[in-house]
Amino acid sequence: MKQNILVTGASSGFGLLLATELHKKGYHVIGTSRNPEHLQSEVPFKMLELDITDDDSIQSFGKRLFSEIDKLDVLINNAGFYLSGLAEETSIEQGKQQLETNFWGTIKLTNLILPHFRKQRSGKIITLSSIMGLISLPGGAYYAASKHALEGYFRALRFELNEFNIKVSMVEPVGFKTNIVTNSKVAENKISDYHKYRTTLEDYTRDLFTKSEEPTAVVKTLLKLVESNNPKFNHPVGKGSTLFPAIQYFSFKTFEKSVIKNINKFNSTKK
Ligand SMILES: NC(=O)c1ccc[n+]([C@@H]2O[C@H](COP(=O)([O-])OP(=O)(O)OC[C@H]3O[C@@H](n4cnc5c(N)ncnc54)[C@H](OP(=O)(O)O)[C@@H]3O)[C@@H](O)[C@H]2O)c1
Repeated sequence: MKQNILVTGASSGFGLLLATELHKKGYHVIGTSRNPEHLQSEVPFKMLELDITDDDSIQSFGKRLFSEIDKLDVLINNAGFYLSGLAEETSIEQGKQQLETNFWGTIKLTNLILPHFRKQRSGKIITLSSIMGLISLPGGAYYAASKHALEGYFRALRFELNEFNIKVSMVEPVGFKTNIVTNSKVAENKISDYHKYRTTLEDYTRDLFTKSEEPTAVVKTLLKLVESNNPKFNHPVGKGSTLFPAIQYFSFKTFEKSVIKNINKFNSTKK
């Protein structure tokens, strides 16, 4: 029997690539988007409407999903966005929106699926965290907070679901070329004291993303996870993805110095 796999945020980036690959491999894929009608004719898998920040949307999505399939095998929590900007320049409202999507939305959707997984006594939950769920960098405080929150939550959930044969894993990519920058939101307040630092950081981040890798490695990791019987918890992907958390773990001082040095070096090469 074909396995049924749900991929949230399958309209773009990692989600779209993964859902397409899974479909090619013969899985029955259900993807989601807030606007599925624009895409349905362009993708080979079924798209359903879902906004993970909207409780009614989650409930009606649940009804639709389980009218399409009797059993779900894998949930891939991929939907999310990036809020960039300095912490103090970000309004609390914007910060809440970041957590509402990346953290609460992911948890609410997981809660929709969990009773089905428990009843089946099987299931797999794979969640897109980020390297920013393991380390934290300037200009992404709320994004890092949302991904750290996911790491903490799912680490506990993994223990709790063990007796039900439900596997819980995270994937922590560094920067990859998707539509994450185009779809990102930016802190709306500007404080003059931060002007120089903000400008440097914006240029530095833009440069990092321009040089970022194609998303193939992330899709490959996700495919491996779907096919693995007993996946471990963390799966950092991309250049430096294991090195930076390790440096931070052994010496936060060394980690901090290298982040500051890199930003300063970038600033001086610009002049
Ligand atoms: N690209 C990177 O460098 C990177 C690195 C680390 C982690 N990640 C994580 O990877 C995941 C996928 O990001 P991506 O890079 O592929 O970005 P992307 O190309 O911008 O795709 C984001 C997807 O999330 C969906 N989405 C956003 N808000 C949603 C909401 N409220 N409800 C339902 N769906 C929503 C979008 O669907 P619709 O707009 O169609 O609804 C879209 O399909 C995210 O969780 C992101 O944090 C990305």
